[in-house]
Amino acid sequence: MTDPNVTGRGCSAAGPGVIETSGLAAGHAGLPVVRNLDLRVRRGEIVALLGPNGAGKTTTLMTLAGLLPPIRGQVRVLGCAPGRHPHRLARRGVALVPEDRGLFPGLTVAEHLRLARGREAANRAGGRRRVVAVVDEHFPELRRLMNQPCGLLSGGEQQMLAVCRALATDPVLLMVDEMSLGLAPKVAHRLLSVLRRVAVEREMAVLLVEQHVHLALEVADRGYVLSHGEVVMQGQASYLRDNRGLLASAYLGGTALT
Ligand SMILES: Nc1ncnc2c1ncn2[C@@H]1O[C@H](COP(=O)(O)OP(=O)(O)OP(=O)(O)O)[C@@H](O)[C@H]1O
Ligand SMILES: [Mg+2]
Repeated sequence: MTDPNVTGRGCSAAGPGVIETSGLAAGHAGLPVVRNLDLRVRRGEIVALLGPNGAGKTTTLMTLAGLLPPIRGQVRVLGCAPGRHPHRLARRGVALVPEDRGLFPGLTVAEHLRLARGREAANRAGGRRRVVAVVDEHFPELRRLMNQPCGLLSGGEQQMLAVCRALATDPVLLMVDEMSLGLAPKVAHRLLSVLRRVAVEREMAVLLVEQHVHLALEVADRGYVLSHGEVVMQGQASYLRDNRGLLASAYLGGTALT
């Protein structure tokens, strides 16, 4: 696994707080859409980031992944300010599965997984074995699809590949944006149970953005609900699950929850 305790410029040794933000304002072109965000994710913990469309969930993930500069406040990811260096964060063990899955339709399943390990690592026998082991361990159904261009895969198979590619990097922190979007509940459950297993077995931290609130709260340890860019509710997943009324009103206009 990638060592989260390596320090570098602008970094402190990472403690259990894999993500720590304080008073974070995040947004686009200097205009904040997320304000006053105090977020904490520890090793081995699954944290759900919930909220209605436009609440600022993707903006938050992009900022934590170093794809958007923070506007105000403190952000530490694995002990470092993300800055605008997503590749450095990736090397330190941060993986992001974006909303659109970030796959290349013309590349095969095997090619995606090789790229995830880095060309040289993947070409070494150990690297190839590791990629195959990750597939066999989590998504054996991808084995027969290794030489298929991913544009020909079903939505569920593509999402399995996107998650598998992220897991092949042995992340310390995995951030997933709308994993279950457009998927049958059975496939969504399957993917979420893989995340739960890896979080427990390898102490991987997971920040899970999910529209399907109840699915997310089945696997999450804790959750934050964003509305109009501010946290309006947070707590243990069991607390959020047991307070459906509060949770519903934390959503814009008390939208019915799926
Ligand atoms: N590139 C951009 N430039 C300017 N504004 C943006 C940009 N991307 C998003 N926004 C705005 O920021 C706000 C938050 O968007 P964001 O995508 O973070 O919400 P979200 O919670 O992920 O929503 P959804 O559930 O629909 O994915 C929205 O008002 C959106 O219009
Ligand atoms: Mg989004």
